[in-house]
Amino acid sequence: MNRYRIATIPGDGIGNEVVPAAQQVLERAGSHFGITLEWNELEWSCEYYARTGRMMPANGLDTLAEHDQIFLGAVGYPGVPDHVSLWGLLIPIRRAFRQYVNLRPVTLLPGIDSPLRAVPEGGIDFVVVRENNEGEYSEVGGRMYRGTPDELAVQEAVFTRRGIERVMRYAFDLAGRRAGRLASATKSNGIIHSMPFWDEIFRELGSEHPGVETSEYHIDALAALFVLDPARFDVVVASNLFGDILTDLGAAIIGSIGIAPSANLNPEGDFPSMFEPVHGSAPDIAGTGRANPLGQVWAGAMMLEHLGHADAADAVMGAVSHVLAETGVRTPDLGGTASTSEVTDELLTALETEVADR
Ligand code: NAD
Ligand code: IPM
Ligand code: MN
Repeated sequence: MNRYRIATIPGDGIGNEVVPAAQQVLERAGSHFGITLEWNELEWSCEYYARTGRMMPANGLDTLAEHDQIFLGAVGYPGVPDHVSLWGLLIPIRRAFRQYVNLRPVTLLPGIDSPLRAVPEGGIDFVVVRENNEGEYSEVGGRMYRGTPDELAVQEAVFTRRGIERVMRYAFDLAGRRAGRLASATKSNGIIHSMPFWDEIFRELGSEHPGVETSEYHIDALAALFVLDPARFDVVVASNLFGDILTDLGAAIIGSIGIAPSANLNPEGDFPSMFEPVHGSAPDIAGTGRANPLGQVWAGAMMLEHLGHADAADAVMGAVSHVLAETGVRTPDLGGTASTSEVTDELLTALETEVADR
């Protein structure tokens, strides 16, 4: 029997709606493939902060470390400043567990029309490998002279050779296993010190990987190409902030921020990895039952795959594709009228056919 301890953090807003939906789907898939998922639900959130003054207990990271993987909804909600909620929970997890690869597939699923003109089915299929531990998301900086005309903010980006190399090596390997094309998001034309350093390492590693065709794009031009010619991409490697922005854009071109998944990977496996959707807590629709659960479900499929159960992951994604392509049952972000639970029920039904076929 394959038994896994999964720390579940639904978090805030729609995280509390889409995480239970995805859990049902994963449970059902697991039961067909001999996988037991033991969920340990942790109530860490902005509500928890309001009660305790912390986003998670002081020993929260130790608690998480006892689990095989982490399944997270979203963190952040009006009432608690984002820098408090995010530096109190999400970012420390990504860093303490050296989840330095943030893998974000940008794949147009069957049955979804891209908002882009003339994208055929299967016409968008690439992966963004986002650096997840350093770069522009650094704690170095501060604010001064508040309330005076001289008020200012300083933010340092921190790029290390080790940090750049390890995420790029992952991206080169991934490209080698896919279509063999790797694009780097850069900005070396400006007065940014970090990006020529990034480019130098990219070229060094490129010469070690003659089988991978490399290209470099300035981030501004790259963003435009996501819209104008997404079919040219196979794997895109990007720094933390560039990758963040590119992947909301990536989500948009595959139909909705509500379906895009994200895997925060510790490739060495010496710490748990964390699986979550690309989207946030969506305060504007929280509590209305309109949240799309597919991003959370897809993140769950990535977790099953990471645990070594590609068959179960494929069954889950088969059910997702079936619901999208064949049933018309979809949430309002995809142009439908269905609720979170109606989509979830449809997924559970589709899953029965998927597993029967396997
Ligand atoms: P958001 O992703 O929460 O919402 C952006 C828009 O997309 C909203 O209109 C929302 O309704 C819609 N949307 C998002 N997910 C959806 C879904 N599953 N189904 C249907 N529609 C969906 O981004 P935001 O508004 O910038 O952020 C809200 C809060 O979430 C902030 O506190 C932010 O810091 C946090 N956040 C957390 C994470 C995370 O935990 N990883 C990610 C992004 C944002
Ligand atoms: C994401 C989110 C986070 C990020 C925020 C909430 C800190 O936007 O996971 O994409 O920027 O990494
Ligand atoms: Mn983001």
